[in-house]
Amino acid sequence: MTRGSVETSLAELAARIRARADGRAGRFVLGIAGPPGAGKSTLARGVRDELNIAAGSGFAEVAPMDGFHFTNARLTAEGKLARKGEPDTFDVAGYVALLRTLRNSSLGEPVAWPTYSRELHEPVPGGVVFDRQRVVVTEGNYLLLDDRGTPGWSAVRRLLDESWYLDVPRPIIERRLVRRHIRGGRTPESAKDKVAHSDLVNARLVESTRFTADLVLRKYGRGYRFG
Ligand SMILES: Nc1ncnc2c1ncn2[C@@H]1O[C@H](COP(=O)(O)OP(=O)(O)OP(=O)(O)O)[C@@H](O)[C@H]1O
Ligand SMILES: [Mg+2]
Repeated sequence: MTRGSVETSLAELAARIRARADGRAGRFVLGIAGPPGAGKSTLARGVRDELNIAAGSGFAEVAPMDGFHFTNARLTAEGKLARKGEPDTFDVAGYVALLRTLRNSSLGEPVAWPTYSRELHEPVPGGVVFDRQRVVVTEGNYLLLDDRGTPGWSAVRRLLDESWYLDVPRPIIERRLVRRHIRGGRTPESAKDKVAHSDLVNARLVESTRFTADLVLRKYGRGYRFG
């Protein structure tokens, strides 16, 4: 373990969010950022599940940034399909607007949120519907970006009550992403090419936002560590 760092479990991380969310009238928004393949979606689902076990089902739900991928038709029309995954291939205005709606709407008022299908490689409108959930876990690569590259992203941070950055060593990310692209139908060569020329470029951009997170987490054994 790194000197000075603190070990924690998924249950402790969820308890931290519950303590902060309890006693608030409105919704609490946790944002989980990190490079591609870091395990953000896995961590977000884990926190949601822990919260729903501890506080009762329907307490927390995940609102993925990935639901705001532009459709392949639109990316093709704009000549951006090959760059899918970069900050300007997402509907950032739509993401910010719906996150704001979710934050400001009354508990019990349904809000439909798009998800992303890794089978169809397309967003799924209304993939998840929020209702009484007090905690929103939103997760994605670009939650902590400023506006120096693609305008619009800096508005996300203002809608987060707490932000976490999931930090994973590059070689591990690289291995995971190559494996995932191969599972998705690419040849090993094409998978490695995609990782080197696209995913890792995006990863470097995301890594530049790490220092702005409230908490930087690293996977450690069965749990995580921070600090
Ligand atoms: N803690 C972990 N230990 C080992 N493998 C993990 C862990 N978390 C995630 N993975 C694996 O790493 C891969 C990426 O995980 P996940 O989809 O959660 O990452 P992500 O950050 O959401 O990626 P993306 O940015 O592409 O959406 C998956 O194959 C997942 O099973
Ligand atoms: Mg993900």
